[in-house]
Amino acid sequence: MTRTLQPSTLLGGMAPDAFMKRYWHKRPLLIRQALPGFTAPLSREALFALAGQDDVESRLVTRSRKCWQLDHGPFDRDDLPPLTRRQWTLLVQGVNLHAPAVHDLMGQFRFIPDARLDDVMVSYAADGGGVGPHLDSYDVFLLQAHGQRRWRISAPHDTSWQEGVPLRILKHFEAEEEWVLEPGDMLYLPPGYAHDGEAIGECMTYSIGFRAPLEQELLQNFLYYLAENAPELPFGRHFDGRYADPKQPAVQKPAALPDAMVDTLLAQLERVKWGRREVSDFLGRWLSEPKSHVYFDPPEKPLTHARFAAAAALGGVRLSPKSQLLYERNRFFINGEPLEVPVNTRAALRKLADDRAISGGECTVFAQKDHQIQEILYDWYAAGWLLPGADPGPPRKLRAIAKKAA
Ligand code: SIN
Ligand code: CO
Repeated sequence: MTRTLQPSTLLGGMAPDAFMKRYWHKRPLLIRQALPGFTAPLSREALFALAGQDDVESRLVTRSRKCWQLDHGPFDRDDLPPLTRRQWTLLVQGVNLHAPAVHDLMGQFRFIPDARLDDVMVSYAADGGGVGPHLDSYDVFLLQAHGQRRWRISAPHDTSWQEGVPLRILKHFEAEEEWVLEPGDMLYLPPGYAHDGEAIGECMTYSIGFRAPLEQELLQNFLYYLAENAPELPFGRHFDGRYADPKQPAVQKPAALPDAMVDTLLAQLERVKWGRREVSDFLGRWLSEPKSHVYFDPPEKPLTHARFAAAAALGGVRLSPKSQLLYERNRFFINGEPLEVPVNTRAALRKLADDRAISGGECTVFAQKDHQIQEILYDWYAAGWLLPGADPGPPRKLRAIAKKAA
């Protein structure tokens, strides 16, 4: 996976650092020919086929005059309007999980932490199609992949939504700027920026989206984490008994909550303590958790340990596009699961997390230093989280090894 912090066309000749300082989460940026000569890696038919899968989230937005309709997939080809019809759009979420070329494209944006990355949504729109003026709570790079689209944008003024429509469309929208994007052009929008994209002829747009969780969502999920993990957390040992009231006197007002009960619980809850460790443990698990419709594909006939080690030494390993591997200091989080590893294993796993792959040579060197790495990689392979072969599509030799083992 190529990751460069040098200036490139992707950010209009700007280095990622300058982009992050001047634009990220602050103001929009139009980049003409961010990807010169770009052609959509996924055909219209391939996208329609994805929208027919039940492990893929898709939506269909159709418009006739001022009436909007929203339907949720999966869609058979016959469920989609004819190509000759105007003003409809199909939106397919998480295409990076299913199309290796789209996953690789997303890799170009890894100057932004994976912790913020959400997915690549691909839309196909017939002439005049779009989802109406709206705003998102996401940072998004809108890459024009095929055909032309007119984008009109505005800083948010009035964020009230139209009533009686099945999707969120701004009641008042007045464009401050507008552009027609051609294939390879890209528009970056920070969260909350109003935008309206209308297809000029049929077009496809790739939205590389970065989630910014609501603070309330973070708090709620952290509190769930505390609740779920309380017995193992350091404060948990203070909660191993049962409420006791040997000093409770007889009462004349039986409905009143006893003061002693409130005070006892208050004193006990004051022992609930957390620090950086608990917060990073929560974030690592939560952010690496696969979305509800993600299913892994464990190998039907897994290689033996020995054959897997031989395949890894020959061609390396790579993470499945569906896997999320994050780390914080000496702790790793893969697909929602935490893992603590000894010092010797850390360098290999950090490399795998940052590059999403390790070469055959590196696998050999890492395995010589520490054999626990082989066990970890094998377990992840057996779970469908990791694949042999550092590059997509295992080389012929690896296929031969796999065949022999079958
Ligand atoms: C689209 O691709 O039609 C919608 C993308 C967006 O507005 O976020
Ligand atoms: Co949007």
